[in-house]
Amino acid sequence: MKSKLAMFIVFSSWFFLTAFIVYEYMVYGSQLIEHFLHPLHAYEFLFHLLVLGIPIGSTITGYLMNERKKLLVETQQSKEKIEHALKEWRATFDAMPYGVMLIDSEFNIIRANKYIADFAGMPIKELIFNKKCYEVIHKRDRPLDDCPLIKSASTRNTETFEYYDSRHNKYFMSSITPIFDDEGNITAYSHPLIDITDIKQKEEKLIRSRDAFFNMLKDVDSAHKDLKALYQNLVIAFANVMDAKSSWTKGHSERVTEYAISIANEMGVNGRGVETLRTAGLLHDIGKIGTYDIILDKPEKLNDAEFVLVKRHPVKGEEILKPIKGFEHIFPVIRSHHEKIDGTGYPDGLKGDEIPLLARILCVADSYDSMTSDRPYRPAPGKEYAISELKRCSGTHFDPQIVEAFLRVLENKDN
Ligand SMILES: [Fe+2]
Repeated sequence: MKSKLAMFIVFSSWFFLTAFIVYEYMVYGSQLIEHFLHPLHAYEFLFHLLVLGIPIGSTITGYLMNERKKLLVETQQSKEKIEHALKEWRATFDAMPYGVMLIDSEFNIIRANKYIADFAGMPIKELIFNKKCYEVIHKRDRPLDDCPLIKSASTRNTETFEYYDSRHNKYFMSSITPIFDDEGNITAYSHPLIDITDIKQKEEKLIRSRDAFFNMLKDVDSAHKDLKALYQNLVIAFANVMDAKSSWTKGHSERVTEYAISIANEMGVNGRGVETLRTAGLLHDIGKIGTYDIILDKPEKLNDAEFVLVKRHPVKGEEILKPIKGFEHIFPVIRSHHEKIDGTGYPDGLKGDEIPLLARILCVADSYDSMTSDRPYRPAPGKEYAISELKRCSGTHFDPQIVEAFLRVLENKDN
């Protein structure tokens, strides 16, 4: 029994009953029970009932008092627990590194943590049911035109938004989330306020870095295009210098290049191959720079000794270009552009597939242009003759597939 008063009442009443029974026994002895049940006077019987009733009643009263005491203690303990939990919740709520508010559908702030109080510059108690969220957050006397709370009330979903606060010079991310009761009615809205200034600044820095990087790439791309144009113009200038050595060869390199690229495209050669052919076509006879002009311009057919000198030009061409880094891919094309499929060409006497494909293409284009151009020792035999020669020498001098491709190119050109 926890209640001392209840214990006192119960023990006192039972002590009184015991004392009374002892007294009665001393007076009535063995007649005690008979006297108790059938006393001499009626008021004594009532007194006996009262004497018996007091301890029983006091026991019941004591029990009830004790239960009340227990209930009071438990209630007190529960209250203390609730207060403790509330303190913990409050401390946690206030320690949050971002603002949290609960607002009702009338925009009233019904809960707010310390962050919001600091943000608003006033104590929490002055905010609760005293300020509207738009007064605190946006410093306005009415909601925003596109207020997310109004949207959230309509969609019953979370509405998220970002905004810049010029007073604090900070970016914030916020949201409005409806809170529902068991019947599905919206009872309030949670409204967090998160400072994202650091993230925004990093994001802006990243965007600036990305833009700077893209600008740099554009500059590099532009410089690369300029350099490529310069390179192509230099190659063309080289070809022109070479072709200008003789009036007979003027424009030869550019025409050969044009024919070769047409054939390559017809055969489906990839872009890299076509580019190689463009450079190799323009420079294929660069080795003739080292050949005496008198031989190149000789109005008669060359004798064997002169022809030996002329036949050096593919190798000389390779030697002239060798110091230029990045030209390695065109060396085999230049060196082998006078090789023949049957191995009777020069300088290495290569056969069939031993001759690089691009060199075989260049050979057909070069031969066609030679046969359709005047030479010091003969007038141009003409297109018909050139085509018949290509067909006649297909499989011996020229790669048949390349001849076929070139004939298709010429046919398409005519049409
Ligand atoms: Fe040549």
